[in-house]
Order: sequence, then C-alpha cells, then structure tokens
Amino acid sequence: MAWPNIFVALGVLCCTSLGYLIKIVYDHRRKINVLREQGVPMPQEWSWVTGHLLVLRKYVDGIPPDAAVAFAMRDLAQEFAHTELFLVDFWPVYPPLYTVFGPESISQICNKYNLPKTAVAAKFMKPISGGPNLVSMNGNEWKYWRSLFNPGFATGAMLNNVPHIVDSILVFREKLVDRIGKGMFSLDDFTTRLTTEIILKITLDNDSNYQRSSNVLATALGHITSWHSFWDPRVLIHPLRPFVQRYHGRIMNTYIRKELEKRFQETKRERSSDLSGQTPKSIKSVITLALEAYLSERQDNDVLQEEKLDQNFADYATYQIRVFLFAGTDTTASMMVYVYHRLAKHPNWRRKLQVEHDEVFGPEPNNAAKLLKENPSLLNSCKLTLAFLKETLRLHAPAGTMRAGLTGVTVTDLEGSEQPMDYVGANILHQALHVNPRVWPRPREFLPERFLVRPEDELHPDPAAFRPFEQGPRNCIGQTLVWNELRIAVVLTCRDLEIRDAYDDFDAKMDNEMGIGEKLKRWIFGEPMRTLHGDRAYQTDSAGLHPVNGYPCYVKWAKHD
Ligand code: HEM
Ligand SMILES: *[C@@H]1O[C@H](CO)[C@@H](O)[C@H](O)[C@H]1NC(C)=O
Repeated sequence: MAWPNIFVALGVLCCTSLGYLIKIVYDHRRKINVLREQGVPMPQEWSWVTGHLLVLRKYVDGIPPDAAVAFAMRDLAQEFAHTELFLVDFWPVYPPLYTVFGPESISQICNKYNLPKTAVAAKFMKPISGGPNLVSMNGNEWKYWRSLFNPGFATGAMLNNVPHIVDSILVFREKLVDRIGKGMFSLDDFTTRLTTEIILKITLDNDSNYQRSSNVLATALGHITSWHSFWDPRVLIHPLRPFVQRYHGRIMNTYIRKELEKRFQETKRERSSDLSGQTPKSIKSVITLALEAYLSERQDNDVLQEEKLDQNFADYATYQIRVFLFAGTDTTASMMVYVYHRLAKHPNWRRKLQVEHDEVFGPEPNNAAKLLKENPSLLNSCKLTLAFLKETLRLHAPAGTMRAGLTGVTVTDLEGSEQPMDYVGANILHQALHVNPRVWPRPREFLPERFLVRPEDELHPDPAAFRPFEQGPRNCIGQTLVWNELRIAVVLTCRDLEIRDAYDDFDAKMDNEMGIGEKLKRWIFGEPMRTLHGDRAYQTDSAGLHPVNGYPCYVKWAKHD
C-alpha cells in the first residue's frame, strides 16, 4: 500500500504549494487594493490576477516594437498630468512603484528623503559589477565608497584628464575621416569604443587602444550585457545565463585586478617617496586617487608594508570599476550619438556652435586639440555648446532611478495629497519629467536657448526639472566627465565633419534582404511602426538606451561658412 500513500502525499504537497502561491499573490494584491480604495492615483484597469500588466499593452502598441518601454510609460503618464504621480502594479515582474514625473515630488524622494536604492536594482547590477557597488549600495557602506571615489571624479581631477580625452577623441576623429566617401557605418559602435577607451584610461590608467583593436575586458562586458535584461523573461530565466555571466565576470576581474595591483605598487612607491628613477604621475587616475584616499584613511603604515593590496578592498574596488565601465560607456556613447543627430537636424545651431568654436579656439580647426590640452578650462568658454548638449540630454536622457519605499514616508502629489510609500517604491521617469508641459514650455521643441536665457524669461527652466544625472546625494558621480567628453567631441569634430543618419538606405537594404518569414509576417500584420513621435532614430532598450540599429550613418567634410 506504499504507492497510494505517495500519491496522497504528492497531492497534499501540490495543493499546499498552490495554496501558498495563491496566498502570496492575494497578500500582495490586497495591499494594492487597499491603496486603490484609498484613491491613490493609478490606471483604472487593474485586476487581482495581473495587476496593471495589461495596461501597458495599448501604449506599447503606439510605439515601434523595439522602442524602449520607458516611452510607453511616458505616454501613459500623460493621463496623470493632474497628479504627476501614479502607481503601477507590475508585480511579480517588478515591485509595485509610483511613476513620478513632477520636479517637486522627485525632489522629495531623491533630495529630501534620499530614499534607498531598491533590492531589484542590486540584483540586476550584480552580474555586471560582480558584487556590491556604488549604484546599488545603501547607507554607510555607500557613503564610505562614494567618499573614496569622489576625489577621482571631482572637477579638478577631471580637468587634469582632459589631455587623455582629447587623445582618444582625435582617434575617433581619424576613424570618422577614414569613413568619408565610404559606405554606411554604425555611429553607436564608434562612440561605444571611444567611451570605453576613455573610461579605461581615466579610471584605471590603462591604455587599451580599444578604438583600433579588440580588448578582452570590453568583450567580456559585452557578453555580460548581451545576456542582461531588466524585464525580458526569455533572458532572465535562461538556465545558462548565470554561468555565462560569471565566466565573463572572472575575465573582467583578472584584467582589473592586474591593473589595480600595478597602481597600488606605484602609489606605495610614491608614498614611501622611494621614487627610484620614477617621477610621480602628473595626471592621476580615478583608482590612484581612490587608493590614496584609502591609504590616508587607514592611517597606519601597515598597509604600505603589505606586499599586496588587501583582498577585501581589492574585491570591492573591482566591483566599482566594473560598474564605472558599465555606467560610463553605454550612457555616454548613446548620448554622443544623439549629439550628432541633433547637429544634423538643427543646422542653425550647428552654425552657432561653429562660430563659437572659431571665437574660442581660432579659425583653424586643427589647432583646437593642442589648445585644449594646454588649457582645458577653455571648455568653459563654450557656453552655446553646453546649452546645446543640455537640450540634447533633456530630450534623450538615457537613465533614471528607482527608489524603495520606507515605512512612514509619504510623497506629495501635484494636487497636494500625501501618497503612502510604506509598501510602494518610486520610479523616477526622466523621459516624462523632461517633457512635462507644466514645467517645460514648448516641451517637444529643441530649444537650447532655454539654458541661456535670463531667469525672468518664460523659457528659463526650473533647475529641479532638469535631472539627466539625477540630483541630491545619489547623483551621477561621472557627470563632470560626461560634460567634458561631449564638449571635447563636439569641439574637435563639428566644424569640419558632418554626420547624417542613413536609416533610409538601411531600411531599403533590410527590406531587400528580407526573408520569406518576415514577408509573410508583414503581409499579415502590416508594416512595423518605424518612428517614435516622427523620429526614426528612437531609443531601444539594451543595457542603456541605445539608438535603434546602432545609428547607421554617413560622414562627409562639412562646408564651413
Ligand atoms: C550621459 C551619461 C550619463 C548619464 C545620463 C548618467 C545618469 C545617471 C543617473 C540618472 C544616475 C542615478 C542613478 C540612480 O539613482 O539609480 C547615475 C548614477 C551613477 N552614475 Fe551615471 N550617468 C552617465 C554617465 C556616467 C559615467 C561616465 C560614469 C562613470 C563612472 C557614471 C557612473 C555613475 C555611478 C557610479 C552612479 C551611482 C552614484 C551613486 O549612487 O553614488 N555615470 N548616473
Ligand atoms: C591594460 O591592462 C591589461 C590587463 O592588465 C594589460 O594586459 C595591458 O598591457 C594594459 N595596457 C597597457 C598599455 O598597459
């Protein structure tokens, strides 16, 4: 009689686990239902089974199939202009979050309360960083690491690094010149290689020459991010994913550790003033400045006696470098593409920038690199260029932030109601904030003059409404570096080179090479949508928000008038 007993046991087990599952779902949705009945703003269409998951469908249908989900959320946000805040319950895909797009509410969350980063953020960053890192840490641990790395990213240190950036951008420029009169190429690929090379140099003092050759670290990171998704279940539940990511993570660690150890030995030699035959480096990398801060903070001389870098410190520093590589390349590379996109779309602004560069650097474009290396602060004279870049960042912001709720905390919506954050965190949606018509007049127009006019002008923005790097204690540590990279790239290329997108030719080529399956699909479902609010170069979800199809383009010499 053994078998029937097993069946009974299995049956009981199944029922209890099913019951347990139902209880978890019920417990979650009940909390949301309470908020719903309290009148917390949220989309009407909510169900006990799927929450708000089906709400997005209508909005996703209104954008190209591969466009970033953030744009569907932005369109949904328009229905909540009266509160500038609404709850979406995508659980269990995501924790329940308020989508917030009003500067006052965001300032409460990020500046006033500085709510902690969410546990999901840490989970998603883990395969990329290997462990706890600046983006996902909280509390004292975050404070300690941020203070170690702040000196390396400070304005002065970044100005010292300008010559390195100039050198890399000169290679980028040469590569562009090589493409003149030749076929289509991906600008996103060029800018990604450029920003990777720069971040390796600035953070680790490692000359990777990645714009001209391959690099094991960059390749490993590429593998990790191609197996990365914030939400796509096909990627997330793939059984091989953890193994592949860990394998490539170890390759990254080996590379970074080798460089870290070299910098430690250099710093030690310099500290013990044993500069046998070596002069101290005049330009210090981020990691060298972090090592100096670490050694000063340890105070005791023991560290200097140690042969190798402390294991724990080295592990954590490696996680941070991995996160810099990720956060610093993707975002900046895609921003750079949109800078060229905007230069092509707004020839009147291109001319204004050319005139400004002639004034600041003299009429000969080839002199600018030398002048910049000698006097990096010339960048600060390029006021129109900065305004142009700010407007580009406003309309194409590639990041955002997610914060966890906290017991007892409420956030005030635009109508003045206090919304409870005990159970619900916040998703700060820059894509919606930056075109919020209450705070941005003529929100969809490209008007860099917003950032130049006097405060009494109607166009003058509320400083709290422009947050591409977020604001408050958890703002982006790399923002000075970004402004420098973008300004130098524009100064060294926009006077005599002109990039224009090649989507027409790209689409024609794709249509030509279309297989029978794709043809059938189009015959049944119609042509796929190809523009977002009229723009073919819309942003897609990859690790950061990248221009669709890598921004196919052509380059030619520009007429300078
Ligand atoms: C256009 C380029 C960039 C944009 C738009 C951007 C945007 C942002 C945003 C919005 C945050 C806040 C994220 C959050 O709260 O979850 C952030 C944080 C951060 N970013 Fe950037 N970023 C850019 C480039 C860089 C670069 C070049 C680095 C280089 C190291 C970097 C490193 C970081 C780090 C470490 C944090 C976490 C800071 C902390 O919490 O202490 N980012 N960034
Ligand atoms: C950059 O780092 C890698 C890994 O340590 C090393 O093999 C390579 O030689 C470094 N490049 C230079 C120019 O030092």
